[in-house]
Amino acid sequence: MRFFIDTANVEDIKKANDMGVICGVTTNPSLIAKEGRDFKEVIAEIASIVDGPISGEVKATTTDAEGMIAEGREIAKIHPNMVVKIPMTVEGLKACKALTAEGIKTNVTLVFTANQALLAARAGATYVSPFLGRLDDISVRGTELIEEIAEMFAAAGDIDTQIICASVRNPMHVTECALAGADIATVPYKVIEQMTHHPLTDAGIAKFQADYKAVFGE
Ligand code: E4P
Repeated sequence: MRFFIDTANVEDIKKANDMGVICGVTTNPSLIAKEGRDFKEVIAEIASIVDGPISGEVKATTTDAEGMIAEGREIAKIHPNMVVKIPMTVEGLKACKALTAEGIKTNVTLVFTANQALLAARAGATYVSPFLGRLDDISVRGTELIEEIAEMFAAAGDIDTQIICASVRNPMHVTECALAGADIATVPYKVIEQMTHHPLTDAGIAKFQADYKAVFGE
């Protein structure tokens, strides 16, 4: 399983990119709004930092296929690595089909059932984004959805659509996504940082430092 970072914050993106662990970025309208910056400007800056797929979502207020197609074309022009993120609706699927036919990569988002993922795959989606954490929030086991989608895609035998585990909230989610057969997990910087820690790693570093300093000083 590979990692994308799920944020529009360029400082967090730079930190994760410098660690060498991410190979792509996902954003959504809430994450863009949080930065309070112009969409194209922030997306172009992100694309200049990470050399990999960058998901930029159509406007949350655009609900018709024609509008999404027009916006998707504009998003695709920002950088060759752009992926157009489209909501899982009937209109979204139409937009996915049309953009795919033009050679534009797509990420169908807000996926909460395996059937939605299968529809997105059949519409030509490059990626599907099932939301793990938001299912856990309503007491539905998100990991089971990832397992179902992975099993369904494998059983189909002719699906290239990649599964991006989204709405990842903690390190356990990451482990579960990887074991469930996800291709990618898109993870906030905070979770990437949490994943680096273990109490024994931290205690081991402190002990090595103390032992070294006791003999050799600073
Ligand atoms: C996916 O691409 C979304 O940007 C994101 O993972 C949503 O996460 P949240 O449920 O924590 O908002």
